[in-house]
Amino acid sequence: MSDRKFFVGGNWKMNGSITQYKSLITDLKNAKLDPKTQVVIAPPALYLLPAKDLLQDNDKIELSAQDGYHKPSGAFTGEISLVQLKDAGIPWVILGHSERRTIFHETDEDVATKTKAALEQGVNVILCVGETLEQREKNESIKVVISQVEAAAKNINDWSKVVIAYEPVWAIGTGKVATAEQAEEVHKAIRDWLAKSVSAEVAKTERIIYGGSVNGKNAKELASQPDIDGFLVGGASLKPEFVDIVNARL
Ligand code: 13P
Repeated sequence: MSDRKFFVGGNWKMNGSITQYKSLITDLKNAKLDPKTQVVIAPPALYLLPAKDLLQDNDKIELSAQDGYHKPSGAFTGEISLVQLKDAGIPWVILGHSERRTIFHETDEDVATKTKAALEQGVNVILCVGETLEQREKNESIKVVISQVEAAAKNINDWSKVVIAYEPVWAIGTGKVATAEQAEEVHKAIRDWLAKSVSAEVAKTERIIYGGSVNGKNAKELASQPDIDGFLVGGASLKPEFVDIVNARL
């Protein structure tokens, strides 16, 4: 097993309420979490600052925004800038999630621009990539994923501040998890690309996590793969089984 720190992110998406975020965070604070796992949760932006208050006495759980806009300020109604995330002390941001790419039409170029702005602010990035079912059926998974990584990579100068999340679109919210072999194949291809196009050191240290219908039952097998360094969890991050996913390597 590699010595890359296992990373588990909980992407709450547009879910939750004031009551729910309080109870989810309180339960997580009280849970027995593997101290070797880095845990990052991404509540809706509305709850980030109150969540930060709730986590004040906790150094195990970090916070992430679900998106961030590259312009520092101005007339961009509805957006939150990376400068503002930094100002609010939010250390992570998810960028390029497939829901942003498909529903909100974000392009590789948009994701690259946001990645640059995040790194300029010192905000760590969870960079999401993944192919659609149609692309998988045409045998294009690796080609698509590598081109998404490549587009953002041109704006990445410090890979220690980036985690790559491979999230096949067909596995997100569908209950249809990639098999450990399917996920490992793509993770390895990303790592090989990093070795070839960035450096051997980055390829060795970069965390590549998997997302798409991860749950308390399938996490262990996925986590045993040599190139799977953690998870980005949607639905199950709102349930008690999130703790089992954090503890998948125990
Ligand atoms: P699910 O775990 O609900 O499939 O969502 C995965 C995801 O999109 C995490 O970002």
